[in-house]
Amino acid sequence: QSFFKPIQKTSPPSPTKRHTKISVIGAGNVGMAITQTVLTQGLADELALVDANPDKPRGEMLDLQHAAAFLPRTTILASVDYSVTSGSDLCIVTAGARQNPGESRLNLLQRNVALYEKIVPQIVKYSPETILMIVSNPVDVLTYIAWKLSGFPSNRVIGSGTNLDSSRFRFLIADHLDVNAQDVQAYIVGEHGDSSVALWSSISVGGVPVLSFLERQQIVYEKETLEKIHKQVVESAYEVISLKGYTSWAIGYSVASLARAILRGQRSIHPVSVLAKGFYDIGGDVFLSLPAQLGRSGVLGVANVHLTDEEAQKLRDSAKTILEVQSKLGI
Ligand code: NAD
Ligand code: LAC
Repeated sequence: QSFFKPIQKTSPPSPTKRHTKISVIGAGNVGMAITQTVLTQGLADELALVDANPDKPRGEMLDLQHAAAFLPRTTILASVDYSVTSGSDLCIVTAGARQNPGESRLNLLQRNVALYEKIVPQIVKYSPETILMIVSNPVDVLTYIAWKLSGFPSNRVIGSGTNLDSSRFRFLIADHLDVNAQDVQAYIVGEHGDSSVALWSSISVGGVPVLSFLERQQIVYEKETLEKIHKQVVESAYEVISLKGYTSWAIGYSVASLARAILRGQRSIHPVSVLAKGFYDIGGDVFLSLPAQLGRSGVLGVANVHLTDEEAQKLRDSAKTILEVQSKLGI
């Protein structure tokens, strides 16, 4: 019995409108910031929350359902049981230990690999066609682990990577030049973390390469200033963690932008963690961030951004750092 009396014969659903489902594994600070952004932006018809602690996702689900009158319509589910994730288009994994103040991301590895060994097979069981978006740290190594554990083709396993670092970079450059961060095109590539690489050679503001922009505006700059900005990017998370205990809002927006690119088939370019073997002479099965085109099937390709010799070498060094950590895992 429908609440509304139909005024005409209901037409069958449009074949172009598909039902979209996102699952978020880990209903902590990061999982909930992503969830809240995804809901606000109306990116899914259905959203499932899973956490090892049964009360947390249920409490979060109820709290968000109570905002239904203010949000685009989304069915929200929550459980400890992965069956709620069944048929997901995108599974975002944020479960796991986070850094204590001063602790590095790589230090979380053993704890989070053990969790991923339980989590990934469950996701695959219920959503064999899903795209996996890895967010837990250390994100590059865990994206590699998720790729191995899932058996998925590499285009369907993506780490949120340096999409966040690049946003921090764009903010700091914009602040330095007093322009809008959305007009700054700038990439941080490599490891999401201490060995990340700033691509100064390809930064542009409003289509103008940044170094010549600075010259034209007669703004004095020194290599040290540029290095200081990159250092600030690397230190950003440590600073936020020492102040508020964790980072959440920026990663929430960052991952929602990736979810939008994938689920809406945007074919837009984002620096995310992808299988990097063969790019810029990187050898070995290593995931790290490169500017990748994202669409409905996940990673569509990697943009052929020109790197200076110094940038390419730093990228290979970043790959080496990640591979060294991976080799200790014996996976
Ligand atoms: P948090 O402690 O608030 O949340 C983690 C959640 O994971 C908890 O709710 C916990 O119950 C849950 N969990 C633990 N084991 C689980 C399991 N086996 N199955 C399901 N859920 C499980 O931590 P947080 O602040 O949300 O951070 C989560 C992760 O995200 C950390 O690894 C952190 O380093 C990482 N992070 C990554 C980025 C990035 O840019 N990639 C940014 C911020 C944080
Ligand atoms: C970040 C996390 C901690 O905010 O990786 O960069």
